Amino acid sequence: IERTFSMIKPDATKRNLTGAIVKIFEENGLRVVASKRVWMSRRQAEGFYAVHKERPFFDELCDFMSSGPTVVQVLEGENAIAKNREVMGATNPADAAEGTIRKLYANSIGENSVHGSDAPETAAEEIAYWFAETEIVG
Ligand code: GTP
Ligand code: MG
Repeated sequence: IERTFSMIKPDATKRNLTGAIVKIFEENGLRVVASKRVWMSRRQAEGFYAVHKERPFFDELCDFMSSGPTVVQVLEGENAIAKNREVMGATNPADAAEGTIRKLYANSIGENSVHGSDAPETAAEEIAYWFAETEIVG
């Protein structure tokens, strides 16, 4: 059994899509084992996305992620990292497969509704960035 880190981004919380997105996780064998709503600071966004610091969209990304509430979660399931990436769909909604969260809900490549860890090491780091062990209840 594997754990991954997920965020429902401000574009999605603003449109009241939290439940719709969690329903897709649950229908695909992903279980929410930790969850909280946070309005992250600019500094928290910069820390979370530090790997993208040199990318041209870094400022826009950090502005967006600190522009409203997000829901940060830990998801658990068989191959949770790959399964979550599959149900999220491609980063750019124009490239996302039919039925994926980003195809259904994303506004653009920036406002793309969800984040999911891309590997076991990043999942562990990202979970630890937002959650204490005691907040994760499997
Ligand atoms: P995450 O799960 O959020 O990490 O998405 P990803 O792994 O599919 O994409 P990547 O790690 O390459 O980029 C991280 C995030 O930066 C994306 O989810 C987008 O929100 C944002 N991003 C990526 N490319 C662009 C871009 O060209 N413009 C803008 N504004 N944002 C971008
Ligand atoms: Mg990524």
